[in-house]
Amino acid sequence: MERKDFIEKVGLSAASVLIFGCMQSCSKSDSAPSQPTGSNNNTNKAIDFTINITTNPYTSLNTAGGFYVDKTNNIIIARTLTNEYIAVSSLCTHQQVTVDFQANNNRFYCSAHGSAFFTTGAVLTGPANVALKQYKTALSGNNLRVYA
Ligand code: FES
Repeated sequence: MERKDFIEKVGLSAASVLIFGCMQSCSKSDSAPSQPTGSNNNTNKAIDFTINITTNPYTSLNTAGGFYVDKTNNIIIARTLTNEYIAVSSLCTHQQVTVDFQANNNRFYCSAHGSAFFTTGAVLTGPANVALKQYKTALSGNNLRVYA
């Protein structure tokens, strides 16, 4: 091998190693976010279901201030003290812990780290900084429809 060929081959190999190393250290996979981005796992799901509030397990919605967590759809449905039915994603946008409804404070609350949300799902206090997804409700007799 001639000296020129040797230098050319060694030079290319060294450049390849440098470029490969830079690409790995500059990769986005190294910069994972420290908390979830606010996804509630419902965003791509078509939500539209109806429940009878006089039958189990929904009877808590028969009382003002009561609430029910639908773990299949990750939705919390609540009846406010003024008898309004509201529904939002039940997974806190901070770290996906299930929220409760606090009727006396008229808010959703996550006991994990203290985030609170308005009845619309908007953030009242953090650490969560992304709103809970809000769903529509419609009551017809004893049947409550929850939909996007
Ligand atoms: S998981 Fe809800 S406040 Fe942290």
